[in-house]
Amino acid sequence: VDSVKSIASGPSSEHSAFAPDPKWFETEHETHVVQFYSDDIPFLDGLVRYIGTALRVGDAGLVIATQAHRDEFARRMQARDVDVTAAVAQGSLVLLDARESLAKFMVDGRPDESKFVCEIGGVLDSIRAGAGNPQLRIAAFGEMVALLWLDGKRDAAIELEQLWNNLAKTHSFALRCAYPLNGFRHQSDSDPFMKICAEHSGVIPGESYTKEQTEKDRLRTIAYLQQKAEALEAEISLRHSEEKFRLLVDSVQDYAIFMLDAEGNVNSWNTGAARLKGYKASEIIGKHFSCFYPELDLRAGKPAWELEEATRVGRFEDEGWRLRKDGTRFWANVVITVLRDKNGQVTGFSKVTRDITERMEAHEALKKTNQELKNEVDQRREAERKLHDSEKSLRQLSGRLLRMQEDERRRIGRELHDSVGQYLAALKMALDSAQSDQAVQGTNARQQLVECVHLAEQSIKDLRTIAYLLYPPMLEEMGLRSAIPWYLEGFSKRSGIQIDFDISPDFGRLSRDVELVIFRVLQESLTNVHRHSGSSIACVRVIVEEGYARLEVTDYGKGIASDVLSQGADAVGSLGVGIRSMVERLQQVGGKLEISSNRHGTKMLATIPCNVSSSLSF
Ligand SMILES: Nc1ncnc2c1ncn2[C@@H]1O[C@H](COP(=O)(O)OP(=O)(O)O)[C@@H](O)[C@H]1O
Ligand SMILES: [Mg+2]
Repeated sequence: VDSVKSIASGPSSEHSAFAPDPKWFETEHETHVVQFYSDDIPFLDGLVRYIGTALRVGDAGLVIATQAHRDEFARRMQARDVDVTAAVAQGSLVLLDARESLAKFMVDGRPDESKFVCEIGGVLDSIRAGAGNPQLRIAAFGEMVALLWLDGKRDAAIELEQLWNNLAKTHSFALRCAYPLNGFRHQSDSDPFMKICAEHSGVIPGESYTKEQTEKDRLRTIAYLQQKAEALEAEISLRHSEEKFRLLVDSVQDYAIFMLDAEGNVNSWNTGAARLKGYKASEIIGKHFSCFYPELDLRAGKPAWELEEATRVGRFEDEGWRLRKDGTRFWANVVITVLRDKNGQVTGFSKVTRDITERMEAHEALKKTNQELKNEVDQRREAERKLHDSEKSLRQLSGRLLRMQEDERRRIGRELHDSVGQYLAALKMALDSAQSDQAVQGTNARQQLVECVHLAEQSIKDLRTIAYLLYPPMLEEMGLRSAIPWYLEGFSKRSGIQIDFDISPDFGRLSRDVELVIFRVLQESLTNVHRHSGSSIACVRVIVEEGYARLEVTDYGKGIASDVLSQGADAVGSLGVGIRSMVERLQQVGGKLEISSNRHGTKMLATIPCNVSSSLSF
C-alpha cells in the first residue's frame, strides 16, 4: 500500500498525470457501472483513472482484460509513474486474462454460477486475505462480458452480468465493465443493449461527453443527445416498418411485386414474382425488365415506353401478354409506379404484376359464346325470314293459281254456254224443223231425227249444268241464298244423296270472294261425301254469326281414315288436292277449315271473317 501511495504522490503533477476518478469517491461502493467505448484511448484512460484512484487511496484493484488491454493499461499506469509490477507483487493489484478466466467457469457456452463464484469470488477473497483486511475496498474491472458479446453469445453475456451482480451482494466490490460500441451496430442489438444497461447501476458516458466543462455546454450536449436519440428511434421504427413492409411484400404469393432502378433493371424480387415468372431472385436481379416482354412488344419499344409513361404521369397500367422464364406466356395486369427522391429525381419504379389469364380467358369465352349465340339467333331469324318470304310467295302463287283457275272456269263456262251452247241450240232448232218436214213423216229417218232432237236437248242440259257448275252465274247475281239451293238440287239429282239444307234467315250477301270460297268449299265437300263417305244423306248449314260466316257440311258415312286426317293440311301425303285447295282458298280470305270425323260420319266446318274484305278477287 505504501509503495502505491508513494507512487501516486510522486513527483509528476497529480492533476496532469493522474486526474482522479470522481466516481470512485462519490458513488456507493457496490456500484456496477458500464462503459461503452468507441475509441480505446479514452477507454484506457478511464480505466487507468479508475484503478489508479483506488490504488492511490489504498484500495485494491482487479483487472480482468485481454492481453492487449492489460499491456496498454500497464504501459499507461507506468507512464503515470504507477509501478504496476510492484503493486501486483504486493497483491493490491491483480491482473487476469479475460479469455483464460472465462474458460474456467464457462460450461456448454454458458457461465456456471458456482464455478464463477468459486473462481472470481476466490480471487476477491484472496486479495482481502493477502491485505489482512476483510473490509478492503476493491475496484474491479472486467471485459469477459464484452468478449462473450463480441463472440455473439449475447444471452451468456447478460447472464454473466447477472452473476457479477449476485457476486457483489456477497463479496462487496465496485465493478466496471466495458463494451466496445462497435458490438452494437445492428438494430437487433438495441433490446439486449437495454438489457445490459439495466444490469448496471450506472452508465459511463463516452469521453467526448464528459469533457464538457461549462453547464451551458453540458446542457447543449444533453439537448444534442436527446435530439440524436429521437432521430435514432425514428430511424429504428422506420426500419421496423420497412422491414415489416418488406416481409409483407415478400410473403405475397399472387402478385409479382418488384422494383426497377431508374434504367429498368430489376433490383428486388418477391415470392410472388418468383412464383409467377419462374425466375429466382438470384437469376433476375440486375437484369433488365424487358426480358418479360414478348418479341413483338420489344420491337415496338414497349418496355421503355411504359417507363416513360410512368415517369410522365406517375403511374402506368396495362394488360397484355408477358413471358415466364420458360418462355410460356400469361395475360398480365401490370401497374408501374415511378419512385422519386425528395428532390423529385427518379430513383426507380415499382412494378406489380398479376396473372389474369384465367379471367381473360373466361371473359373471352363468354364473349365468344355471346357472339355464337348472336350468330345463331341471326341465322335463325334469317331462316325464318326466308321461310316467311317463301311462304308468302307460295301463298301469292297459289292465290294467283286459284284466281287463274276461277278465271279459266268462268271463261270455259261462258264459252261452253255462249258458243257450243248456241250451236247446240241452233242444231236443235234445225232438227226440230227437219222433224216437222212433211217429206220425212213416217219414215225411218224421222225416228232418227226424234232421237237426235232428244240427244241435242240432253247435250244442252248437261252443257248448261257443266257451264253453271264451272261458274254459277246466279252466284254473282243473287248470292249464296239462291246459288246453294240450285246447286244442292242438281247435286241430289245427280248423286241420289238426300240433302237437308238450312240457312239462317239473316244470311245476306257477302263479298264476292267470300261467297265464291263458300260455294267452292261446299262443292268440294259434297263431292267428297258422294265419292268417299258412302252416306246417303247429308246436312248443309250456312249461318252468319258474330262477324263470321260458317258453312257446315255433315255426312253420316264411314268417316275419313285417321291416318289421312292426322296429316296437316300442309303435309304432302295422301291428303288429296280437294281438302288442300279448300284450306288454301279459306286461308286466302282469312278463314279456316276444321274437320271432325269418326266412323259415324264427317263434319267439315269452314269459318270466314265476313267483315274483312279480302284483297283477292276471284
Ligand atoms: N266425307 C268424307 N268421308 C270419308 N272420307 C273422306 C271424306 N272426305 C274426304 N275423305 C277422305 O279424304 C281423302 C282426301 O280427300 P280430298 O282431299 O278431297 O281428295 P280426293 O277427294 O281427291 O281423294 C279422300 O281420298 C278420302 O279418303
Ligand atoms: Mg275430293
